[in-house]
Amino acid sequence: MANTHSPVGEHIEQATLLQGEFDPLTHTPVHLLELKDVAKHYGNIIALRDVTMVVDTGRVTCVLGDNGAGKSTLIKIIAGLHQHDAGTFSIMGAERKLNSPREALDAGIAAVYQDLAVVSLMPIWRNFFLGSEITKGWGPFKSMDVEKMKQVTKGELAAMGIDLRDVEQPIGQLSGGERQCVAIARAVHFGAKVLILDEPTAALGVKQSGVVLRYILQARDRGLGVIFITHNPHHAFPVGDRFLLLKRGKSIGYYDKKDITIDELTSQMAGGAELAELAHELEQAGGHPEVLAEVNAEVAEVSEAGASGKHSA
Ligand SMILES: Nc1ncnc2c1ncn2[C@@H]1O[C@H](COP(=O)(O)OP(=O)(O)O)[C@@H](O)[C@H]1O
Ligand SMILES: [Mg+2]
Repeated sequence: MANTHSPVGEHIEQATLLQGEFDPLTHTPVHLLELKDVAKHYGNIIALRDVTMVVDTGRVTCVLGDNGAGKSTLIKIIAGLHQHDAGTFSIMGAERKLNSPREALDAGIAAVYQDLAVVSLMPIWRNFFLGSEITKGWGPFKSMDVEKMKQVTKGELAAMGIDLRDVEQPIGQLSGGERQCVAIARAVHFGAKVLILDEPTAALGVKQSGVVLRYILQARDRGLGVIFITHNPHHAFPVGDRFLLLKRGKSIGYYDKKDITIDELTSQMAGGAELAELAHELEQAGGHPEVLAEVNAEVAEVSEAGASGKHSA
């Protein structure tokens, strides 16, 4: 299926590019997105360094890390809001630096942010088409094709397995999880190839998180390359194909699913080793017994969570 006749420098058609295709010139796999040793600093703060990851069609790449780990900085580079200042960022095998979110969208990269920009009182279908309304008629007779937009909204939501009785209801009446899902369906409808989800489950309960995780898999199955940002390994592991772990702006690991277990992912994320060390230091320093007990309890909880794979908040 690879376009082996593509001459040097010719643009590779996105639609023809499938998982596992090879660049005809270099005979290396072509990825939807590829970052190599990417770094970014703000003044003298190094927000990100040594980040290497790929995004492929039909695959979910998870980015894990605590607050300040550099997750937002990373997605801002991919979504065209910021530019990296070291390393390379390639889209379909071509090195790029994106100057605006518009450029990212044109390259098929859509981001769904945690604080969704929705107009709560407007119907679901209006939010779905906000800024890209379908019209009918011409000149002074031009008007919004409401029926068509309702129909498309319903169809796209159904295709994602989302069953909403009424697309006329205000989007504000939907749960947080459902709103995320509408945003995902919207990105898919408007042609996204890469879907970035910034902590879509962070503010949700267990059940709602499950709903969003299912739609992440739906998007994957529709052939999108998904970047799923989260600090919860229990959300990442079941849906992810690859895992990038960030800590204080640095990549501390990048794993294929077959090379890591949920326990390892959890303990890396929770910093179990660091906590144990802290408890030890406190003990040496004759720490306050109450504080010590608290840290020890935390260590126990972390290792228990790692061992049983239970949900941690
Ligand atoms: N616009 C900015 N100016 C200066 N420092 C920033 C800016 N954005 C992020 N940082 C710093 O970069 C680091 C990574 O932040 P961020 O990417 O927001 O992490 P995360 O999303 O994982 O919480 C933090 O130390 C943060 O303070
Ligand atoms: Mg962030």
